Amino acid sequence: MIVPIPAVVPPGRMSRTDQPVFGLANGFELRPWRPDDAKVLADSCQDPDVQQWNRPGHLSLDDAGERITRWEKRWRTEEAAVWAISEPGGGSPVGLIGLGDFDLCGGSAEFLYWLLPAGRGRGVMLEAVVRVSRWALDDLGLHRLRITHSVANAASCRVAQKAGFALEGTMRSALLHSDGWHDEHLHARVQGDAWPG
Ligand SMILES: CC(C)(COP(=O)(O)OP(=O)(O)OC[C@H]1O[C@@H](n2cnc3c(N)ncnc32)[C@H](O)[C@@H]1OP(=O)(O)O)[C@@H](O)C(=O)NCCC(=O)NCCS
Repeated sequence: MIVPIPAVVPPGRMSRTDQPVFGLANGFELRPWRPDDAKVLADSCQDPDVQQWNRPGHLSLDDAGERITRWEKRWRTEEAAVWAISEPGGGSPVGLIGLGDFDLCGGSAEFLYWLLPAGRGRGVMLEAVVRVSRWALDDLGLHRLRITHSVANAASCRVAQKAGFALEGTMRSALLHSDGWHDEHLHARVQGDAWPG
């Protein structure tokens, strides 16, 4: 007799709720992207570090607006969850954090994130990764979350490690950057792993 394996997260659990807003201890906020954030999103592609590590290419203002609309839709279709990291007081975004590559049936997803210079150097991303991980694991019920980054991106590696994402290995020649193929670290957190601090 074949015993069916149930979906780790049943369909509809995510789309039934509105995308939450999370306050961070340092006053920053995680909130859904809004249509009037399109210019910040388009301009973020000009930041040399975002360009180097996140490889967004060029994004016109129209492209950015469409992307924001697509993120809203992907929450409802349970394909992605993407937040703006905004300045204290609901200001404009200084960064992005999200989960993509959703596999609700299998129980996993992968982080994407970046900060503009105005948001860097204050531990904001560490806190944001922990907050979104708690939502994804405790509230949504995923089992495993991944962070992958170029082995040359020391800041991202530190964020992953401090957020309790164990280094599981190195994926050779895994992603093509502007200066050639980079090896990538694979970090992950699974249900039951200890939370930092
Ligand atoms: C990666 C990123 C999110 C980290 O955010 P940040 O605000 O710059 O990070 P913080 O200043 O809080 O530093 C986090 C840790 O990394 C360390 N760190 C920061 N920059 C570093 C660097 N260039 N080299 C080595 N370590 C670095 C910090 O010392 C800190 O560790 P500590 O708390 O033990 O001192 C941000 O730098 C960023 O968005 N960079 C551009 C795009 C990018 O890298 N995206 C990620 C793609 S996977």
